[in-house]
Amino acid sequence: MWGELGARLDLERGVIAGAPVVRRGLSDLRGCFADAAAYDAALALGDPPLYTVSSVEAGGGGGDLHYGLGVLYPGRIGDEYFMTKGHLHSRREAAEVYIGLRGEGCMLLEDEMTGECRIEPLGAGRVVYVPGHAAHRTINTGDVALVYIGVYPADAGHDYGAIAERNFRMAVVEREGRAVMVARDERNIQQ
Ligand code: F6R
Ligand code: ZN
Repeated sequence: MWGELGARLDLERGVIAGAPVVRRGLSDLRGCFADAAAYDAALALGDPPLYTVSSVEAGGGGGDLHYGLGVLYPGRIGDEYFMTKGHLHSRREAAEVYIGLRGEGCMLLEDEMTGECRIEPLGAGRVVYVPGHAAHRTINTGDVALVYIGVYPADAGHDYGAIAERNFRMAVVEREGRAVMVARDERNIQQ
């Protein structure tokens, strides 16, 4: 017997109706932003919410899919835009499809095998395919919440450890009103 197959996107509240919600605040992203002084200064003023993800994780079999609705708020730490923690999938071959619903931003992708880095625009009307072996992080470069859905294999799993240890090589920062990708090391030297 099939269980529930449909769900309602409650875009007013930014959740999938009835699905569990994970909330991440600034304090959860220690070590992610390149400008550590700006991070500490922002955290001293409070711990603002950065994003929420509500997920539907019904079946757990090899062919099953899970999906989540992400809402990433606008803002910056120094010149670096608000972003998600980022992760690799534990089963490295597992790909993912991101579907942008509202707002403006991008995905930062980094191939664990080749080191290739790329930003792909993500926002209303954009779809991004995240290949296997690609570390992925979502970034809000706009003024309103970036809302998107990610669909991924049920057995993908989430590996945050590798990124927590070495972070992404690139950072997405604001330069003269535009979002650009710069090398994280270069960004640190410019402090
Ligand atoms: C699932 C996926 C997204 C993210 C979400 C939050 O595989 O990629 O649903 O979980 O964008 O980002 P993280 O999980 O990196 O905190
Ligand atoms: Zn993922």
